[in-house]
Amino acid sequence: MSQKIKKIAVLTSGGDSPGMNAAIRSVVRTCAYHKIECVGVYRGYEGLIEGDFKEMNARSVRGIINKGGTILKSARSKEFRTVEGRQKAHEALKKAGVEGLVVIGGDGSFTGALIFNQEFGFPVMGIPGTIDNDIFGTSHTLGFDTALNTVVEAIDKIRDTASSHNRLFFIEVMGRDVGHIALNAGIAGGAEEILIPEEDLGLDRLVDSLNKSRTSGKSSSIVIVAEGDKIGKNIFELKDYVDQNMEGYDVRVSVLGHMQRGGAPSCFDRVLASRMGVKAVESMLGGETNFMVGLMNGKMLLTPLDKAIKGKTKINLELLRVSDIMST
Ligand code: F6P
Repeated sequence: MSQKIKKIAVLTSGGDSPGMNAAIRSVVRTCAYHKIECVGVYRGYEGLIEGDFKEMNARSVRGIINKGGTILKSARSKEFRTVEGRQKAHEALKKAGVEGLVVIGGDGSFTGALIFNQEFGFPVMGIPGTIDNDIFGTSHTLGFDTALNTVVEAIDKIRDTASSHNRLFFIEVMGRDVGHIALNAGIAGGAEEILIPEEDLGLDRLVDSLNKSRTSGKSSSIVIVAEGDKIGKNIFELKDYVDQNMEGYDVRVSVLGHMQRGGAPSCFDRVLASRMGVKAVESMLGGETNFMVGLMNGKMLLTPLDKAIKGKTKINLELLRVSDIMST
């Protein structure tokens, strides 16, 4: 393993996700293991431009593997979208003697990293951190598993009150413009219907199916709605439509919102983060750049950043079929 790189920086960018701290910890400790220096960059690309760095060692990351959020904070930086901003970031890194950058974030963060490399030849590696699981090149992004468990817990709680009052609940979940959270958590939560942006089965079919559930004896129902779903203008309009076109149900809405981004990372996400941090640093020390580390069939592998950015994740059709059968 060539060790020309002697100092690596790590930052978190975009929407935070549980597991980011575990990934920061892994990057820092892998650097320590290989006896190279590591700096943490605060507030993503914003802090990179300002040179808001903190020297980190193996002890700096103690006690964070089980913490949600990111100790390095995150931010969305408009200035980094400008060449002047990236120029300042490059100068700050050079001044600090940093020779490689690990970016923990989503596709937007990776786009910035790739442009930065193309302009300055600066080595970059990506670790996919977002609850949406919408990044090509990995079966799991950091935080997805934890978010699923958070949503399932919420569904179970809402089902208690829905069944006590014979109510129909629409529950909106995050996921930006994909339905992975909705589909997986909907199946696990036993939802009667799951609405995702990848499918548009129409309002009448929804009312039809809910009526069938009622006549088959269901006194309450749960409909999981991915926030990117296009079936209705928004979840409240959806509720109104069903309210007006369905007898006998009291209809309520629950928008889970940002709680899906918090919480202690699951065991799966902690292990995934630890593996990704090692893979990212050791790949960089091995001379690699412009890759994202990912999990595929249980193995850590590298996907070129431009493919990770441009690629699209697909809904698992077998899972879709399972959800249809389960709502019988
Ligand atoms: O990308 C993660 C995510 O939580 C999406 O699921 C959600 O749509 C978005 O971030 C919310 O962004 P913000 O935190 O800026 O409101």
